[in-house]
Amino acid sequence: MSDLDPRVTKLMDRPEYPRSAKYDKQWQLESQMGPNALWLTEWLCEKMDLRPGMRVLDMGCGKGLSSVFLAREFDVQVFANDLWIPATENLERFREHGVDDQVFPMHAEARSLPYAEGFFDAIVSVDSYQYYGTDDLYLIGFRKLVKVGGEIGIVYPALVKDFEDGVPEHINAKPGFGGGFWADDCWCFHTPEWWHHLWQRTGLVDVHTSDHLPEAWKMWRDWEVATEMAGTNIFPSEAHVLEADAGRYLSLGRTIARRLR
Ligand SMILES: C[S@@+](CC[C@H](N)C(=O)[O-])C[C@H]1O[C@@H](n2cnc3c(N)ncnc32)[C@H](O)[C@@H]1O
Repeated sequence: MSDLDPRVTKLMDRPEYPRSAKYDKQWQLESQMGPNALWLTEWLCEKMDLRPGMRVLDMGCGKGLSSVFLAREFDVQVFANDLWIPATENLERFREHGVDDQVFPMHAEARSLPYAEGFFDAIVSVDSYQYYGTDDLYLIGFRKLVKVGGEIGIVYPALVKDFEDGVPEHINAKPGFGGGFWADDCWCFHTPEWWHHLWQRTGLVDVHTSDHLPEAWKMWRDWEVATEMAGTNIFPSEAHVLEADAGRYLSLGRTIARRLR
C-alpha cells in the first residue's frame, strides 16, 4: 500500500464497514466515481440474501469496486456491467485482483442488455440505477433478468424530502465556491419512499427494504474530503454543500425487492 496522508486514513477508518476495511484504501480512492462504493455495497448487502455460487449482475459497476467486493465477500459469480468504463479496462482490474475467473466485465447500455431472462440469482446496483431506472416502464423489462424469487438491490443518491420551492440556495452552489452541486442530472434523485412506490405499485416485485443510510451526509462529506486530500476527486469537492445541507435534503438510500413474477 502506498503512503497515504494520515488524515485520509482516519477519514476512511469506519468501523461500521468491517468488510470494506480489508481493502486497499489507495485502490478505493483511485477507482472512485462517487460516494465510496465498497461502503455502499456493504450496507446494501446487509439486507440482501447472497450465497456462494450465485450469479449476480453488478449493474453500473464503474471501475469494479463493488464487483471485486461481491466476489470476495460472498463468493458469487459477478457480471460487471458498465457503460462509461470499457470492459477491457475492467478486465485488467479484475486480473490485478485475481478475480478474473469469477468476475466478468461487460460493456452494455441499460436499455439493451445482452442477458437471457432469469439468468441472474440477484442484481446489485450502486450509484447507477437512478440514471435510467426512473422511467416508469424500466423495471418491467429489467426485473426479468433475475429469477423469480431473486432480489434486486440498488443504492442511490437520495433526497430526504422534495424541494418545496426550487433548488435550495445552499445546494445550488455558485461557481467559484468549490463548484456547484445540483447539476441537471441530479433531477433523478428521489426519496426511498419514491423508489418504493415506483416498484411496489407494479405488482412485479415485493419491496422489503427502502430506507436512508443513517447520517449519510457525514459519510458522503468525509469521503469527499478524503478524495480531495488524496487528489483523486473527479469533480470539484461537494463537501461544503453536504456540510451546509447537514442532512436536510441530501442523503443516500437503498431499495431492495424480490421478483414476484
Ligand atoms: C456514478 S458512476 C458509479 C459507478 C460505480 N457503481 C461506483 O459506485 O463507483 C455511475 C455508473 O453508472 C453507469 N451507467 C450510467 N448510465 C448507464 C446506462 N444507461 N447503461 C449502463 N450503465 C450506465 C456508468 O457507466 C457509471 O459507471
